[in-house]
Amino acid sequence: MLEEQFPGLRTKVHGKPLVYLDNAATAQRPQVVLDAINDYYQNHNANIHRGVHSLSESATELYEQARVSMAQLINAPSEKDLIFVRGCTEGVNLVAQTFVRERVKAGDEILISHLEHHSNIVPWQILCEQTGAVLKVIPMNQEGELVLDDLDQLINNKTCFMSVVHVSNSLGTINPIKELVKAAHDKGVPVLVDGAQAAPHIKVDVQDLNCDFYTVSGHKMYGPTGSGVLYGKTEHLAAMPPYHGGGEMISKVTFDSTTYNAVPAKFEAGTPNIAGGIGLGAAAEFLLSIGLDRIAARDQHLKAYTEAALNQVAGLRIIGNAAKKSPVFSFVIDGIHAHDIGTIIDHHGVAIRTGHHCTMPIFQYFNLAGTCRASLSFYNTEQDVDVLIESLNKAIAMFA
Ligand code: ALA
Repeated sequence: MLEEQFPGLRTKVHGKPLVYLDNAATAQRPQVVLDAINDYYQNHNANIHRGVHSLSESATELYEQARVSMAQLINAPSEKDLIFVRGCTEGVNLVAQTFVRERVKAGDEILISHLEHHSNIVPWQILCEQTGAVLKVIPMNQEGELVLDDLDQLINNKTCFMSVVHVSNSLGTINPIKELVKAAHDKGVPVLVDGAQAAPHIKVDVQDLNCDFYTVSGHKMYGPTGSGVLYGKTEHLAAMPPYHGGGEMISKVTFDSTTYNAVPAKFEAGTPNIAGGIGLGAAAEFLLSIGLDRIAARDQHLKAYTEAALNQVAGLRIIGNAAKKSPVFSFVIDGIHAHDIGTIIDHHGVAIRTGHHCTMPIFQYFNLAGTCRASLSFYNTEQDVDVLIESLNKAIAMFA
């Protein structure tokens, strides 16, 4: 039973067993991840890449092994193409302020989509303010799918860069990334993919997608908070200027000038989140050991079960019905504010997120202030969904 490997799921809330359906916000961690973090602090606690002593060497080995595991998870050609970051937000900001800032000029266009999280909107708006570039948006439809009819015009000779989300955190939509990358590359436009919600749900293969950059957040894929990776094609990472200056990212420093270390160290200034990186490696190995195909199959089963169950609730409307989606359900219930629903069902032990889910433009499109969002993991059960439905019906009864 996979759920038994997650101690956090045994928590009680208001005296009721926790039904955790807020996995898009952050997932629970399996025991192996907690053990890996603890093992580092208890048995290998030293700084990395710096020491000649045994403890530092063993800590370095664990950290670098984590990079190898993450490379395997996303099928990167080499672990040297992976930079440890705090999460997708840092990954996007890093690419915006190094790779893209170097090549963008006033009037150029940066293309994103209507399904983006704020972390894949705001860094580009900042870059546009700094450089005079213009932000363009691939539209979406009522189903929450991207509309690609005008893609040929949206990617034009002014387009400098494209940055798109793989799986929507709010609606669950799985975007046709391979097709988008191909369309961009046909016009010489490099692409970054925000994979925060993809890595825990589907097999990510950066070589097959052929994207230029791909970024992952550790805490959504059962790893620690403040951990993640940015993958970049070797030639891009080699040519990019550094992002942060500090220790470890240098080769030689004098007061006159500094030369930089090789990739990935060039982008990893300062003592990193060592325990976080090691925990992330354990999460990658955990996912690989279950198998992403098995996880995706479980997702699709849970998705079908949850969708059918939610559709039986009177007055409930699911927002976003993409043909290809992860088990993420945004919904509204007639006459009841999302926050009220979230608070009431919390008293039955059910954890969901309410509000705009850091994607305000999506809900501006639907003319909604926000939604309730139930986001499932492979460790959720049909019984969890049944408890969600019972608690929603109780909330509705309270307002009747
Ligand atoms: N991006 C996270 C979410 O979707 C926080 O809830």
